[in-house]
Amino acid sequence: MGIHAAIFWLLLLLYPFHEALLAGALGCNWGTRSSHPLPGDIVVRLLKDNGFDKVKLFEADPKALRALGRSGIEVMVGIPNEFLAPLAGSVAVAEQWVTQNVSAYISRYGVNITHVAVGNEPFLKTYKGMFQRTTFPALQNIQAALIKAGLGRQVKATVPLNADVYQTNNQLPSGGDFRPDIRDLMIAIIKFLQDNGGTLTINIYPFLSLYADPNFPIDYAFFSGSAAPVVDGSITYSNVFEANYDTLIWALEKNGFESMPVIVGEIGWPTDGNPNANLDYAHKFNQGLLDRITKRQGTPKRPTPPDIYLFGLVDEDTKSIQPGNFERHWGIFYYDGTVKYPLVLENGQDLVPAKGIKYLSKQWCVLSPERSITDPAIADSVNYACQYADCTSLGYGSSCNELDARSNISYALNQFYQVADQQKGACSFSNLSVITNIDPSQGRCKFEIMIDVGKHEKSVNSGEEGSARIRWNAVVAMVVSAVLLSSASSALL
Ligand SMILES: *[C@@H]1O[C@H](CO)[C@@H](O)[C@H](O)[C@H]1NC(C)=O
Ligand SMILES: *[C@@H]1O[C@H](CO)[C@@H](O)[C@H](O)[C@H]1NC(C)=O
Ligand SMILES: *[C@@H]1O[C@H](CO)[C@@H](O)[C@H](O)[C@H]1NC(C)=O
Ligand SMILES: *[C@@H]1O[C@H](CO)[C@@H](O)[C@H](O)[C@H]1NC(C)=O
Repeated sequence: MGIHAAIFWLLLLLYPFHEALLAGALGCNWGTRSSHPLPGDIVVRLLKDNGFDKVKLFEADPKALRALGRSGIEVMVGIPNEFLAPLAGSVAVAEQWVTQNVSAYISRYGVNITHVAVGNEPFLKTYKGMFQRTTFPALQNIQAALIKAGLGRQVKATVPLNADVYQTNNQLPSGGDFRPDIRDLMIAIIKFLQDNGGTLTINIYPFLSLYADPNFPIDYAFFSGSAAPVVDGSITYSNVFEANYDTLIWALEKNGFESMPVIVGEIGWPTDGNPNANLDYAHKFNQGLLDRITKRQGTPKRPTPPDIYLFGLVDEDTKSIQPGNFERHWGIFYYDGTVKYPLVLENGQDLVPAKGIKYLSKQWCVLSPERSITDPAIADSVNYACQYADCTSLGYGSSCNELDARSNISYALNQFYQVADQQKGACSFSNLSVITNIDPSQGRCKFEIMIDVGKHEKSVNSGEEGSARIRWNAVVAMVVSAVLLSSASSALL
């Protein structure tokens, strides 16, 4: 044994638990609600280049899972809430889900699946109890199915929950307990997770605290330590992340689960779609968070840091904007894997962008210079474009909000043109628009060009990728024919 190895083993012995060496690892959420998702192999390279050794998927996306095979990256596979009812109703359904979506990927593709996330924030207040009866039985059935598949040790079931499952009655972490309407259910679930060696997964969003409360002291959302402190007994809190996390630890402790392991399943800051969603704040928040991870910093109540999964990897232009326009802009990268703002990672390196991206042609669709901005056809065309494409950057406080009226219209038309893969008919709009080779981007407002999904898939040359492509083409064809139709009878527009 060399001297280095000897020191290593000595260090191991000095640690109370081996896990202590591994705790506080950095993961990332890989969401795929995009019109033009990055190819799986490029995402896996992106994750590895940036030192993410864990990834969380919101569903058992076959392309993503296959790309993660033999990558060395640990995977948490999610189950969407719509699946909870069928999984709760039948062990057989759960067994089938595990066979198809876990066992197959482990054995056939060598995917290192370590967790199954049953549901996604199923007890969110806004769901009004919709998933309260099905979540726990679904968890039990998935756990039973994992054990039956011989994966009981290797794969842990968990339920990613929003931080609104706990609260405090005195504004302080020490007042923490579970929300009264789900308290018994939470205790039953945590007991079950504990009995099966599982972990509790919580999503914590300081951005949403700020979004929900205009009087929220903004410094308290970040980690600079400059906020007016919140004093809780002998503990002083200077950021809402620690206070929020410790509220959970208090709630666990009060109910007899003081050693229950916790994972932070989602945390991050969006960069567009709201005045507080901008590059500066996102940089400040995420860098502060990464620095804590690098330093293996826990919280006052729990010094061992949790594993943390950033939300998210890339922007997703087809996500529901019901929670707010910022919902499509949570990526630390833009949709195409380009860097939004610098971040120094755990490995001491700067963020590395995605490599090998193939784009559509350098051309944009803009309002024809011959058309007046008061043209009566414009309103319907813009509404139509923004119904199919993402116009959230045009809103109040967003990156394209300062455009003049003409550019504002062009932005919407171009978003549609790009989402429709620059197909010929997609820049027609009753002859309102023209194609240009001059980049209309201004200041922080980027007129995007989409990824050439077709070119990427040709290089992958896989049957299933091909069929996904055909489906997307059908959508585009439908959209384009709708545009052609409506421009043929301009009275409609
Ligand atoms: C596996 O997961 C996918 C995606 O979540 C889902 O569509 C499919 O139905 C699942 N398989 C089974 C057998 O439930
Ligand atoms: C999967 O990840 C776990 C946890 O880090 C690790 O112990 C195990 O060796 C990995 N398995 C494979 C096949 O890489
Ligand atoms: C630009 O477009 C957005 C969304 O379509 C709209 O809310 C905004 O008022 C427009 N601004 C101007 C200056 O036309
Ligand atoms: C658009 O322009 C073409 C060529 O100038 C013309 O034939 C067509 O009728 C126009 N369509 C509309 C809807 O104005």
